[in-house]
Amino acid sequence: MSELAILGGPKTRTEPYPAWPVWDQRDIDAVTEVIKSGHWGGYPYPGPKTAELASKFAELQGGGFAVPMANGTVTMEVALRAAGIGWGDEVIVPACTFQATAAAPMNAGAVPIIVDIDPNNYCMDPQAAAKAITPRTRAIIPVHLASNMANMDAIMALAEKHNLIVIEDCAHAHGAKWNGRGAGTIGDFGSFSLQSSKTLTSGEGGILLCRSEVLARKAMAVIDCGRGHEGEGGGEAGPSPLMGGNFRLSELQAALALVGIQRFPAQAKEREQMAAYMDEALSEVPGVRVLRRDPRHTTRSFYQYIFAIDPATFGVEHDVLCAALEAEGVLAEVGYQAMHHYSLFQPGNSRLAVPNAFPECFDFSRMSFPVAERACEHEAVWIDESIFRAGRQGVDEAVAALKKIQKNARELSQAA
Ligand SMILES: Cc1ncc(COP(=O)(O)O)c(C=O)c1O
Repeated sequence: MSELAILGGPKTRTEPYPAWPVWDQRDIDAVTEVIKSGHWGGYPYPGPKTAELASKFAELQGGGFAVPMANGTVTMEVALRAAGIGWGDEVIVPACTFQATAAAPMNAGAVPIIVDIDPNNYCMDPQAAAKAITPRTRAIIPVHLASNMANMDAIMALAEKHNLIVIEDCAHAHGAKWNGRGAGTIGDFGSFSLQSSKTLTSGEGGILLCRSEVLARKAMAVIDCGRGHEGEGGGEAGPSPLMGGNFRLSELQAALALVGIQRFPAQAKEREQMAAYMDEALSEVPGVRVLRRDPRHTTRSFYQYIFAIDPATFGVEHDVLCAALEAEGVLAEVGYQAMHHYSLFQPGNSRLAVPNAFPECFDFSRMSFPVAERACEHEAVWIDESIFRAGRQGVDEAVAALKKIQKNARELSQAA
């Protein structure tokens, strides 16, 4: 019989990982309190739980004016609208991220301009971003991917030089810090998701951190159907000139996020300790590259953990490895497609206004993103954060499974 679980052998991990989201009586009490209050929804905005969430979240990230809203996609669209960015304006996005990072500018009528990533951290390459700037460039959206942070020093310098708005996509970066400053407080805006898999969740939800109160009030007008929030004390000031929609967060969701914030610091610490243990253990496995940690990335937060393999040394490609790891009971996946391969952005494959109006920006045959292609199609392995909540045993088993697969790589590639 094969040693490998994918070929019928015994699994390395037989226990399920700790479930996510974590909940207890506090969540039930918080939701019950909202139900009894009769104030369930997001109107009038912000309700008491939503206002409390805004102030607690800004405190957690260490600054900014927080505007809770429906999810971590509209956060970016709202940031662009609040900054006056729209039709035909160019917005630079990295080639390795969830498609929402580019769909959000398109929802605002802007054109996402894809640039390659840095092989050391898989985040936006600031030099590639610099080369993509044109007279139409208005904003830049670096994504802090998985557990890494984009080089915010270089990105902020670029933005300052060219007068660009910076929206940090922090869907994966709750609690992360760059040079001691919270993710999302460095650029003009920080966009956070509270979707169910995220390390702070309310089931669905999002929070936009804004650099100034003026921007935050504009964002509030956009998410509240264009009701004016620009008046004294944040009160209604007649209809806003900003076009809006209903992207409000409900009080029930805000109540859940508030309980999540109480748990967050201990969970983040546990993940960080276990990830450091994982860095050490993986550095001994041939064919595995631990992504480099920039010393300016002073606090890491772990939504997922990415490492890279060299398929030739390791013996298999990353998709085969991830399938084998899953069979061993270790939660692993290949992660995102390279952005220019998402079907959403294919010319002629989309009825969306933006690609049809600006076809030259979607002619990917003339563009090259070799680092993202290598990462997304050959070498990246994404490990789920729940492994870090299973103690040292969780990490030991993941590494043991990797070594087992490597030892049997020839048999596995013959079967693949
Ligand atoms: C990098 C990134 N940006 C944005 C989003 C969108 O967040 P939401 O699902 O809350 O709209 C996600 C969600 O998975 C994400 O991973």
